[in-house]
Amino acid sequence: KHPNYVNIVEVGPRDGLQNEKSVIPAEVKMMLIDRLGQAGMKSIEAGSFVNPKWVPQVCSHCSHKAQQLSGHNAQMADTAEIIQKLQPLPGVHYPVLIPNLKGLQTLLGVLRERESKQPNTPPPTDEIAVFTAATDAFCQNNTNCTVKESLERIEKVVNVARPVGLRVRGYVSVVITCPYSGKVKPEEVKAVTKELLDIGCYEVSLGDTTGTGTPTTVRTMLETVMAGLPTNRLAGHFHDTFGTAVANVMTALDMGIRTIDSSVSGLGGCPYSPGATGNVATEDVMYALQDSKYNYPGNLDDMVDVGAWISEKLGRRNASRAATAILAR
Ligand code: HMG
Ligand code: MG
Repeated sequence: KHPNYVNIVEVGPRDGLQNEKSVIPAEVKMMLIDRLGQAGMKSIEAGSFVNPKWVPQVCSHCSHKAQQLSGHNAQMADTAEIIQKLQPLPGVHYPVLIPNLKGLQTLLGVLRERESKQPNTPPPTDEIAVFTAATDAFCQNNTNCTVKESLERIEKVVNVARPVGLRVRGYVSVVITCPYSGKVKPEEVKAVTKELLDIGCYEVSLGDTTGTGTPTTVRTMLETVMAGLPTNRLAGHFHDTFGTAVANVMTALDMGIRTIDSSVSGLGGCPYSPGATGNVATEDVMYALQDSKYNYPGNLDDMVDVGAWISEKLGRRNASRAATAILAR
């Protein structure tokens, strides 16, 4: 690959849709995944095998309280159906988010069932994503355990997943600010990132979950994390809560990061806060890279079409500024 090729990990079908309040039919999710692949995305996060009954105490993005979040985790309950029916495109990865061994066993069961029904067809996915956080407080809220315990869980997952041919991507949440414990020390982010790499993740995505990061704080965090860890195994995952996500993406790229997570039309946010923003919009990342030394998979016009389609399907404002401007021309 060209040294300035930017891998885009399209997380809209998982990180974006997991935060939608109204139930989205599996067919719409599958159409979204398919359209993203047709539009040239090479890595599309397809869903998650989390506990559908899990109720976080507070929304990680905007601090809405528990009683408003019941049912929050049920949005991904149809991931088994989606993986069962997914038509993988050649050369495209469809990672699935896995919190623990139970989630992995569910995925492996789906893969076995599919193999028995459709022998000699390519498996729908060859990748899982595991997740932890830089702080215990966030980890407890998100996965009911400390960071240390989550790393133990992850190690068990990796030890089963890799021998059966699944590659494993890792996430570290709250790399800039934790909604409970405030500013996060870059050294803490580095320590957890190193653990994930040592456990066997091929890449670790650094999540600015609360979207509070600025080019200055992102640079400071990356300087520490990148000192001694391989840059080509790090990715940036920026939420756009404060409108700085594109600037943070550019900062990460200028520092040598070449993998960025984004969601089409900026899907995501909090289900109980209509104005809350989600991940950085894929279209906005693509637009920001126009006329630069960087290139990326797919093209902006196709992505604008997919974003307009899904926004209309969900009755949602298109959160991509670039797409909104292009569509208004
Ligand atoms: P727990 O309640 O501690 O689990 O949840 P447990 O092991 O004590 O089991 C309790 C019950 O849950 C049992 O059922 C289990 O079978 C069931 P019961 O016997 O009571 O009927 N259970 C499961 N069911 C389905 N699938 C599973 C599963 N595991 C246990 N995998 C757990 C622990 C981690 C499962 C839970 O806390 C959980 O699901 N958390 C996930 C929360 C979540 O989805 N967060 C959003 C994704 S992460 C994210 O968005 C951040 C990211 O984008 C990066 C960034 O932006 O920072 C990646
Ligand atoms: Mg996220």
